[in-house]
Amino acid sequence: MQILVTGGAGYIGSHTCFALLEAGHRVIVLDNLCNSKVSTLDKIKLLTNKEIIFYPLDVTNESSVDSIFLNHRIDAVFHFAGLKSVSESVKKPLEYYYNNVVSTLILAKACQKYNINKFIFSSSATVYGRNKVPFLEDSELMSATTPYGETKVISERILTDVAKANSEFSVSLLRYFNPVGAHKSGLIGEAPNNIPNNLMPYITQVAKGKMRKLKIFGDDYPTVDGSGVRDYIHVVDLALGHVAALNNLLPGVNVYNLGTGKGTSVFQLVKAFEEVNNVHVPYEITNRRSGDIAECYADVSKAEKELKWKAKLGIIDICRDAWRFEKKYEV
Ligand code: NAD
Ligand code: WQD
Repeated sequence: MQILVTGGAGYIGSHTCFALLEAGHRVIVLDNLCNSKVSTLDKIKLLTNKEIIFYPLDVTNESSVDSIFLNHRIDAVFHFAGLKSVSESVKKPLEYYYNNVVSTLILAKACQKYNINKFIFSSSATVYGRNKVPFLEDSELMSATTPYGETKVISERILTDVAKANSEFSVSLLRYFNPVGAHKSGLIGEAPNNIPNNLMPYITQVAKGKMRKLKIFGDDYPTVDGSGVRDYIHVVDLALGHVAALNNLLPGVNVYNLGTGKGTSVFQLVKAFEEVNNVHVPYEITNRRSGDIAECYADVSKAEKELKWKAKLGIIDICRDAWRFEKKYEV
């Protein structure tokens, strides 16, 4: 298939482009490079020995997006493009609502106009808010706690309503848990343009000496050791989950948790990283981060059963691969 990948130069999008090319698909990437570099696409070409068509454009620009659909035969859309910092979304809600919701509207509209009926959307475990763990796909989405989370809930609703109105439209809403790790080549990985927001890029940058100390946000949660527990999924497994979602796309709305089903605490992740890579990660305990929950992990039985997909890589692979990428990565 010929697949339009928005945000394909970014962290998850780039690994998914790799997986799609390896699975024999062709990809067209739209990315405004606000949080990525075009060199990532060159690295994917090097790894796969395949071409990628790239347009450096903003997905909120309707006429630019329209011209891509007009000029290319597209079989499916993978929509990764979005702003993803939870804390920034609280400070800049309009920017987040505009970028993340308008991009979804424009793409859904183009799909309708050009009769494209396969759509895969990057959603997030954040839509579950403060539901009870493990999170299940059929939970009521009543409590996304931030503008970022709301943009995912709203985008999910838009795509669900499009599917209700058009029985031929197939959409997969993929709710990622905590994507981490990097491709084993060390060539592609998580390379945010600014200071990272998430735990793993912090750990790797502290280990490399780019930052002095990791701050651990709270050691008094009701968890195994007091630190926050998350479901860390290797980005390569996550990318393969997208290929599985495409292969098993049914008419209507398909919702899947993409996680491992296992929780790991901050202390456990730091310790594993130090042991696997034989490096030191200095840290200090600070207050809890506002908005954080104690535990977040997936029930993955639906994806395992219906997509016949399961995360294969574990915390050791994650720590090794994230560090390999960080060591090789030059800004
Ligand atoms: P990323 O920032 O690495 O990638 C997003 C890409 O989209 C970047 O290359 C950026 O330049 C591009 N982009 C942003 N707005 C755009 C626009 N208007 N037009 C064109 N390009 C635009 O982030 P990621 O971690 O790869 O996340 C991909 C998607 O998955 C996002 O939608 C994110 O919200 C979602 N998600 C991420 C996580 C995570 O922890 N990384 C978890 C759950 C969901
Ligand atoms: C993980 C754990 C922190 C940084 C976010 C979004 C979620 C999804 C994934 C997009 C928590 C602790 C973190 C640090 C720390 N993204 N931590 N020191 O918050 O689970 O999820 O990214 O959709 O929507 O909310 O991920 O990596 O920020 O935090 O102690 O410097 O690490 O408190 O327990 P989070 P994270």
